Amino acid sequence: MCGIVGVTGNDNAVKILVEGLQKLEYRGYDSAGIYVNDQKGNDYLVKTKGRISQLREKITPDVHGSTGIGHTRWATHGVVSVDNAHPHFSNDDRFYLVHNGVIDNFQEIKAQYLSDVPFRSQTDTEVVVQLIDKFAVEDNLDAKSAFLKALSLLKGSYAFLLMDREQPDTLFVAKNKSPLLVGVADGFNVVCSDAMAMLRETHDFLEIMDGEVVTVTPNDVKIQDADGNPVERKTYHVDMNADETDKGTYPFYMLKEVDEQPNVMRKLAQTYLSEHGEPQIDDKLIKAMQAADRLYIIGAGTSYHAGLVGKRLFERLAHIPTEVHVSSEFAYEQPMLADKPFFIFLTQSGETADSREVLVNVNDAGYPSLTITNVQNSTLSREASYTLLLHAGPEIAVASTKAYTAQIALEAILAKALGEVNGQIVAQNFNIRQQLGLVATGMQAIVDEKAKIEDLANNYLMKSNRAFYIGRGIDHAVSLEAALKLKEISYVQAEGFASGELKHGTIALIEKDTPVIGFITQAKTAGLTRSNLQETMARGAKTMTIVREGLAIDGDTLVLPDVDEMLMPLLTVVPAQLLAYYTSLNKGLDVDKPRNLAKSVTVE
Ligand code: F6R
Repeated sequence: MCGIVGVTGNDNAVKILVEGLQKLEYRGYDSAGIYVNDQKGNDYLVKTKGRISQLREKITPDVHGSTGIGHTRWATHGVVSVDNAHPHFSNDDRFYLVHNGVIDNFQEIKAQYLSDVPFRSQTDTEVVVQLIDKFAVEDNLDAKSAFLKALSLLKGSYAFLLMDREQPDTLFVAKNKSPLLVGVADGFNVVCSDAMAMLRETHDFLEIMDGEVVTVTPNDVKIQDADGNPVERKTYHVDMNADETDKGTYPFYMLKEVDEQPNVMRKLAQTYLSEHGEPQIDDKLIKAMQAADRLYIIGAGTSYHAGLVGKRLFERLAHIPTEVHVSSEFAYEQPMLADKPFFIFLTQSGETADSREVLVNVNDAGYPSLTITNVQNSTLSREASYTLLLHAGPEIAVASTKAYTAQIALEAILAKALGEVNGQIVAQNFNIRQQLGLVATGMQAIVDEKAKIEDLANNYLMKSNRAFYIGRGIDHAVSLEAALKLKEISYVQAEGFASGELKHGTIALIEKDTPVIGFITQAKTAGLTRSNLQETMARGAKTMTIVREGLAIDGDTLVLPDVDEMLMPLLTVVPAQLLAYYTSLNKGLDVDKPRNLAKSVTVE
């Protein structure tokens, strides 16, 4: 979603801003802009629809400055246009503002305070910058006081970065619900909505809390809490290499990230298991989970799908009832809870607004929680009682791949740890270290078969605008993720279906050559899924099977190595990721940045 960058005290401000925005491209956006000021009376505003490359083309050699702000916009209020792109500015050209989030009451504010002000955009952000200007001019307030007065009226989510031409070396920063960080560099300072944007400048960041207002100058960062008191805060170190965010020789990040999965499995085993395979998880976390009578896994999209697999792992290995919920639903229609619930938030980014909304309610109710995330110090990580990191390395492609498999593997380690302390024999007999080793080798064997999977994508999915993935139990859980991967990057309408349920209505959609792909990895249901595939074949479907070796028969399409049935999703999803990848690639689509989608969804 929208991205924010800012810098003060560096003569290369334009370069830093544009490179920062480039690093945020992966989050999804449709327009971009920068504002820079050179402290000598010159300033420049450049905005464009489309990509950062188009912004670069519009930045003429004279555009320069030492302080500036930049933004990538993912349209919420108003169409995609240059006028609606950020930075927005007040009519007297004094204030410049970039904003992530949504101001819920902007129409009311406009009507109440700004009825005589002409607007050039349809955005909620322009309302805020005009409001700040109004307070500065009419109430004779300095920028910070006018900013504070405007903030006190706003409802909704925001990360703001404001500049005032009368204090051109200062960035005014505030946030509520949307992420924003200050980076402390050598002789200058930066601001960004995602540390990744500024890793070339610094690895040392300061968190900003909701309600705080921060003033950033070249040599100083002043944080003030909601009551106006000064706050001292130490920086934290982001342990990520800027090169990890490059795609190297790969044509797309998604392919690189699919290929990284065997290593992610090994890294998780190294991080969370002893040499002998014993889980190394914080005792306090295990005790808090032991005290619960039910687990609630909360997530959105792919993370929700990883939760569906996690439910099976926690119930089978740890013998604890587990529910999985879509965060945007749970937030506003909470089911009846058990007496002692424990919440697990699955979120690659750690910033998903829907999931955060649930966490806010969980914290208000005083329930314990764990965030499983890929991003150190992300909002959900900071706000939950416990955090476990996925250590998957940055995931840049919009379509999540390695975060899904990392989430499942970490759920398995956690379920094993909990099952062991609960005295569950299944957990005691489950050799997780050996299994994750087999998974890593199995994944490698699958990614080495790319040519075959590309052929299958061409034969099955290129010519159809619809497809079905089917399976039972844990295979059904994977079929939902397989279908999501295909639809989001190839725009083929795909459905993941419980194979036994197909005949109760949806089979009406099967016609000649409709692709139906069956996952068969569970001994108990293999025969049933095969029968359901036959039913679709009898109606003309073009079927493909993705089967575990121990259950394979002649004529199966893709035979995958055997690992424990509970961990088969870690393998079955890989060909599904590659089928989606090659379908998108061969249709000539932008695999990493599919239309309408954003990597980190920070609005509800
Ligand atoms: C799909 C995808 C999304 C995310 C969802 C939640 O490939 O990436 O469905 O899984 O937006 O994001 P996180 O995990 O960051 O909370």
